[in-house]
Amino acid sequence: MERTVICPGSFDPVTLGHIDIITRAASMFDKVIVAVLVNSSKQPSFTIEERTALLEKALSGYDNIEIQSFDGLLADYARQTGATAVVKGLRAMSDFEYEFQMSLTNKSLNPELETVFLTSRAEYMYLSSSIVKQVATLNGDITNFVPECIHDEIKKRLSKNV
Ligand code: PNS
Repeated sequence: MERTVICPGSFDPVTLGHIDIITRAASMFDKVIVAVLVNSSKQPSFTIEERTALLEKALSGYDNIEIQSFDGLLADYARQTGATAVVKGLRAMSDFEYEFQMSLTNKSLNPELETVFLTSRAEYMYLSSSIVKQVATLNGDITNFVPECIHDEIKKRLSKNV
């Protein structure tokens, strides 16, 4: 049986930490759907279209990775796509409580859905989209934080927000 998993997130914008988790998931499973979801508790800086396009460009070399966007419950999206699991990265302990809550909520909404946590690489433990946005907006160097092929696009787009 082919195993499809979902890597969900806001990806506002995608970072090297996200790319690391997504590509590791792609080497463990047959297919990875990167789902750009609406996180109602956050006001995004990039539109869904922009976030999707950045992911498409950064992950264009992978045959078994597909980028999609979805406005609804992750549990329903997993059912629609036939995904067996959600794969998420865990950074510091501070991620744990929220991720545990989301995982249990998703399990209750869709009992067939598993959540798999991959340990973040040490160098990305303190990396987040908010940090990228903060540094770029204040004209700092984000070279070590985002994929090279989309660096200029992110930088240009965020420096407009000053
Ligand atoms: O990158 P983020 O913002 O930490 O990702 C959070 C996200 C988008 C995965 C989460 O908010 C989510 O799953 N949203 C979809 C709506 C949903 O299913 N909510 C109930 C599960 S808690």
